[in-house]
Amino acid sequence: MDRGTRFKNDEFAGMTQPENRDDSVPISEIREGHVEVDGVRLKLSHPYHSPGQWIGQQEVLMQLLACWITVDENDLPLTPRLTGPPGVGKTQLAIAAAEAQKRPLFIYQCTADTRPEDLLITPVLSQGGQISYHASPLVTAMLVGGVCILDEGNRMNEKSWASLAPLLDGRRYIESIVAGITIPAASEFRSAVTMNQDESTFEIPDYIMSRLQPTLPVGFPSKQDEMAILQYHLPFAKAEMLAMTVEFLQHSHELKLDFSPRDGINLLRFAIKRMIQDPAHPVNSDEAWQEALEKCLGEDAIDLESLAQRRRRTLGGDAVPLGLADLFFDLNDPMHPDREDLDEEDDQEDDDF
Ligand SMILES: Nc1ncnc2c1ncn2[C@@H]1O[C@H](COP(=O)(O)OP(=O)(O)O)[C@@H](O)[C@H]1O
Ligand SMILES: [Mg+2]
Repeated sequence: MDRGTRFKNDEFAGMTQPENRDDSVPISEIREGHVEVDGVRLKLSHPYHSPGQWIGQQEVLMQLLACWITVDENDLPLTPRLTGPPGVGKTQLAIAAAEAQKRPLFIYQCTADTRPEDLLITPVLSQGGQISYHASPLVTAMLVGGVCILDEGNRMNEKSWASLAPLLDGRRYIESIVAGITIPAASEFRSAVTMNQDESTFEIPDYIMSRLQPTLPVGFPSKQDEMAILQYHLPFAKAEMLAMTVEFLQHSHELKLDFSPRDGINLLRFAIKRMIQDPAHPVNSDEAWQEALEKCLGEDAIDLESLAQRRRRTLGGDAVPLGLADLFFDLNDPMHPDREDLDEEDDQEDDDF
C-alpha cells in the first residue's frame, strides 16, 4: 500500500457506521486520516472499495455472516477460517460478506516476513525527522468498527500470529510494543482469515487455530455458477469461449485438479487479447484459447487426464503404498508380487459373509 498518499476524510464518508458504535472511533473524529489513541496519533489505513459480488454457494456466505452475528451483549463474534485451493474465491467471499454488512473493509495481505508491528502499528520516519505511527489495516478496522480480512493467513509465522492471540479470544485487544499502547477492538469489529491449501505455508500453532473457528471450506463452483462467475468478470467474452473454459474447468474439478475460476479468468483474458491484437491477421478463437491454456496454466493442462493420473501417483493415490513393489508395479498390475495376497484376502473376506 502506498503509505505516502494523503488520506482523505471522505474515504470514510460513504460508509455507514453501525448504530451501536459507542466504542468505535466516530468518523467525525478522523482528521485527515488520523486518530488519537492514548495520546498517540495514528495514521489510519485505507479502506478497500471494490464491487464484491458473490455468485453461487450461498450456504458458505450465510455461514460466514452467521459468524459475525452477536446474539447478546455478552456474545462475541467468531473469526472463521475460509479454506480452499488458490483462486477458488475465498477473498471474494469475505469481501462480499463485508459488503453485505455495509461495514468498512480492510484487507491485510499476510506474508512469510510479516512482523508483529506490520500487523499492528508501524513507526515511520516522517519528513521532519519525527516518528509517525501507522495503524495497519487490521488496527484501523478495530478502531473504526470495520471488517478485516487477514488474507492468506497461513503464510504468516507464529510470532506474528502470537501478537493476535488476545484479539482473537474474549479479550479483543492488541498491544503495540512499538507505540506503547493497548487498543481494544470496537464492538462492531469483525474478522476472517483466508487460507490456501498449498505447501508454501507455515504450520499455524494449535492455540491460534483454536481461536480461528469455524473452518468454512470454499469449494469449486457448479457448472452454472462457474459460467455466471466468468460472465460477471468478462462480460465482453464470446459465449463459445466462455463455454470452452467452463467445460475445461468442470472437467478439471471432476478430476480433482486445482484449476480455479481465477485460472479461467486469466486464460480467457489472455486469449481475448491475442484475438484482437492484430486485426490484419486475426487469430481464431480455438487457436487463441489453446495458446492461452498452455501459457497460463502450463503444458500439463493440455492433457488433464494424464495430469490427474500423474498427480494421483505422486500423492500416493487412493491406496497407500504397501511396499517396494508398489514403486515398480501398479496395484492392479497382474505382475504385482503382492497382488495374489490381496486377492486371497478378498476371497477370504467373501467367505466370511
Ligand atoms: N463465487 C464467486 N463469485 C464471484 N467471483 C468469484 C467467485 N469465485 C471466484 N471468483 C473470482 O475468481 C477470482 C479468484 O478469487 P479469489 O477470491 O481471489 O480466490 P482465492 O482468494 O480463493 O485465491 C477473483 O477474480 C474472484 O472475483
Ligand atoms: Mg485470496
